[in-house]
Amino acid sequence: MTTNPSIPILDLKEQYKQVGNSIESKVIEILRSGHYILGKYGAELEEEVAAFCGVRFGVAVANGTDALILALWSLDIGPGDEVITPPFTFAATAEAIALRGAKPVFVDVDPITFNIRPDLIEAAITERTKAILPVHLYGQPANMEAICAIAEKHGLRIVEDNAQGIGASRKGHPTGSWGDLACISFYPTKNLGAAGDAGMIVTDNEDLARRLKVLRAHGSAVRYFHDELGVNSRLDEIQAAVLLTKLPFLRQWNSQRNTVARWYEECLRNTPGIILPVINADNVHAWHQYTVRVTTGGTIEADKQLRDELAKELNARGIGSMCYYPVPLHLQQAFADERYTVGAFPVSEQLAAQVLSLPMYPELAYGQVMRISKEIKAILANKISASAYVSPSVMTGVVP
Ligand SMILES: Cc1ncc(COP(=O)(O)O)c(C=O)c1O
Repeated sequence: MTTNPSIPILDLKEQYKQVGNSIESKVIEILRSGHYILGKYGAELEEEVAAFCGVRFGVAVANGTDALILALWSLDIGPGDEVITPPFTFAATAEAIALRGAKPVFVDVDPITFNIRPDLIEAAITERTKAILPVHLYGQPANMEAICAIAEKHGLRIVEDNAQGIGASRKGHPTGSWGDLACISFYPTKNLGAAGDAGMIVTDNEDLARRLKVLRAHGSAVRYFHDELGVNSRLDEIQAAVLLTKLPFLRQWNSQRNTVARWYEECLRNTPGIILPVINADNVHAWHQYTVRVTTGGTIEADKQLRDELAKELNARGIGSMCYYPVPLHLQQAFADERYTVGAFPVSEQLAAQVLSLPMYPELAYGQVMRISKEIKAILANKISASAYVSPSVMTGVVP
């Protein structure tokens, strides 16, 4: 049993101390105003988040999954269409494609950046392909210039899944500004989190923004006149006010996350059994998660066992961790397809067995990162012989 205070994977209570007073006064003002949905806070949030992402329009919706569904809908993607996306992501990415009646076509990821490999995309394009849906996983931007070049060559649209990447950038351009549309989740655990569900689509395309506003409100541009079908995916004023209050802190919080990532790098460097995340030189990382790979240098099964044991023992020592995500989407029942058997996307399968996300939030202190790292080293020292371990430098992988 440990006598040390526990360190959760995420502590939202610390963040609330900074912004709680102003959020509470806005929430009371909204409650007293009697105006609860799509009001001044929602409109201001749309403007500010769009500007933050370097584009002109934002359309606030109920959550990040709706943002993805509506983004694809606004591009008229539906039955018979194919959308290229990675299998190593949260289910909502491919779920949105499938819920539009289109087919998610998976392309494997890079083992170093965890993001879709542009050099494998062209082989997956057919005459039915309509769009590419890259994910900035864990907050690291995907290789957008390569993806944009492929999309342009083949006449495809790009929808960025920027659920985890807000505040990141590549070659000086924010995530969310590369595609035709980009989808953000404001789920409470995200770098910019609401006090409930919330999401947004951002775009520089005025026509798409106008269509999205219609689709999120039952297909009506003018109330009670419905030119097409839509859904109810409006954002309420309380969530908008929470997000607006937090937005001015986001750059500072992301920079603190960067500092925490540097501390992990310093404390965990050269730990047998651990491969640290690598930032591509063109990227500013949002560090939504700090995700290491746990490896024996042996089989996938051995890696998975070691990763799961490490998580369990960290938990016993009061340290939170999480595996995002234990099963790649091509092996999930919901996306079953005869082509998608074990071995179809080997890197995604390997990562699903190896990844472990460690505590990551702006308020983490150096001493906490040191303690987490010491515990990891102590646990692994008993489980892995240094000779069995393959150094990260011999792990293959391009950093696209
Ligand atoms: C990569 C990714 N895509 C989509 C989503 C869906 O967002 P939401 O939970 O707001 O619906 C999430 C959030 O969990 C996510 O991490």
